[in-house]
Amino acid sequence: MDINQIREKYLNYFVTKAHKIIPSASLIPEHDPSVLFTTAGMHPLVPYLLGQKHPKGSRLVNFQKCLRTPDIDEVGDNWHMTFFEMLGNWSLNDYGRKEAIEYAWEFLTNEKWLGIAKDKIWVSVYEGDKDIKKDTESYRAWKDLGLPADRIFFYGRSENWWGPAGEVGPCGPDSEIFIETDNIHRKEFGDKCHPNCNCGRFVEVWNLVFMEYEKKIKINNNKEEKFEYVKLKQKNIDTGMGLERISAVLQGKNNVYEIDTLSKIFDVVCNVCVDKTDIKPMRIIVDHLRAAVMILADGIIPSNIDQGYILRRLIRRAIRHSKSLNINRQKNLSTLVAQVVIEDLKTHYPNLSKNKNKIIEEIQKEEDKFEQTLDRGLKQFHKIIEDKKESLVTGDEVFKLYDTFGFPIEITEELAKENNFKIDREGFCQAYARHQEKSRAGATKKFKGGLAECSEATIKYHTATHILQEALRKVLGGHVRQKGSNITPERLRFDFSHPQKLTSDELKKVEDLVNQVIINNYQVEMKKMKLSEAQNEGALYIEGESYPDEVNVYMIENFSKEVCGGPHIEFTGELGKFRIIKEESLGSNVRRIKAVLE
Ligand code: SER
Repeated sequence: MDINQIREKYLNYFVTKAHKIIPSASLIPEHDPSVLFTTAGMHPLVPYLLGQKHPKGSRLVNFQKCLRTPDIDEVGDNWHMTFFEMLGNWSLNDYGRKEAIEYAWEFLTNEKWLGIAKDKIWVSVYEGDKDIKKDTESYRAWKDLGLPADRIFFYGRSENWWGPAGEVGPCGPDSEIFIETDNIHRKEFGDKCHPNCNCGRFVEVWNLVFMEYEKKIKINNNKEEKFEYVKLKQKNIDTGMGLERISAVLQGKNNVYEIDTLSKIFDVVCNVCVDKTDIKPMRIIVDHLRAAVMILADGIIPSNIDQGYILRRLIRRAIRHSKSLNINRQKNLSTLVAQVVIEDLKTHYPNLSKNKNKIIEEIQKEEDKFEQTLDRGLKQFHKIIEDKKESLVTGDEVFKLYDTFGFPIEITEELAKENNFKIDREGFCQAYARHQEKSRAGATKKFKGGLAECSEATIKYHTATHILQEALRKVLGGHVRQKGSNITPERLRFDFSHPQKLTSDELKKVEDLVNQVIINNYQVEMKKMKLSEAQNEGALYIEGESYPDEVNVYMIENFSKEVCGGPHIEFTGELGKFRIIKEESLGSNVRRIKAVLE
């Protein structure tokens, strides 16, 4: 069964169950500026899960394009991808978990639909905790369908709870469906095998989420931040089935790169490789260039900020891996791949045809640009690490690779890792700041707001952001935590948890407090310590962010303490005058402040 037959069957099956087909939303979220990309099918549907009426009714079905970069290092194994398509059926306060499970079972096992052998199906169910009870209803529903008890597993929150897509929002327990493959259990994963043991015997294909809760910030008396799970007024179903994964299962493949569509791209890459033995870099190229085409189709172009930076990173990482395969440069790899991807997906995503010329032009331009400096940059990198005593690429060296050879910092980091080296990220920023001093004109504009932005003006805003966060906590309470931040040389933007609009009195108090800290001319000091130590000492950090074992903690006298990569200014007196120019809502319990230093 080819991937499009599976797609069609899925839509048709749910249409027979009175669902309405809705189109895929863009990869660039429309309503949620705190995330760069649509990472799951639920993303565009959040307002409807929270109670807004959907114009097409309460039963919906779709396929949604998604992009996830947190696992980018895993891409190239059998199952991970950055870009993928997700099939989803949705109940907005309509049917419940029993029906969702029955639909999934019928669709997967009935000969008329996918016809997967029943004895290959294993499932998991939420085991419950002190707040939310064990999901016996789902267990019973699976048993009633004839699934033996020893193929139904209970797990806790880490495995059987989904959402919210951000830190707050709709979420709930889920039941996951796994298909047993022919792979045998590998003993290195322990004696007992089970669906989540990761030995490779099971592939998770479908996630049925019972979205009945909203995770919210709770403010208790001593103003500590806590989350609470509040029952939503309506019960929802959000299911997500990875289209490429289920296609692999049905096409008898043990990885997504061999399914009909991806293997076409893989063949194109393989054909231009001189060295055809190393599969992983070829898969990275397939995945990253396909993702890049999809991002370009939604109107983003390579740049040094936000989505544009991720796009640049994906293309450049693909091109850098093409080096190790001795790819024939005359062949315009990006164009070749883009043509296949566009052809393959254009019926489902009209932006591909509409923007075809632009996509090919931009992707090839980015390849060519990087190609001009890549060889020399790689030579430079190897020269740097030769004869070094310490396994560290210094900030100046990383900066040179970035500035002269166009190496995104993550590429240098990856190269360093491959050679058992580390890079000095903080030193990179300092080198960047020094460079800005020398060539003020133009450079600030060029890198405005970029991930690699370390101009003097932005360093000041970084420090101001630390002071602002602490001032907000002192004025509004300890529940205030950073939810997002964006800094340009012209202003800071800070998103934080707080349930209501700030009064003008509160805004004034915050502003005054920040200015007082500036007037006091406190010293900003940095200490390196273990993350756990920093947490014990009460340093602020961003929940969910991945930090290295050893972190930098920036302290502004006794006023604020925060885990941060830096860099920062030395004395708060350097900041000038702080002024809040805007305060607004960012949806559920999150506020945004924009402020300037004058
Ligand atoms: N939101 C869930 C997921 O992404 C189900 O669609 O897995």
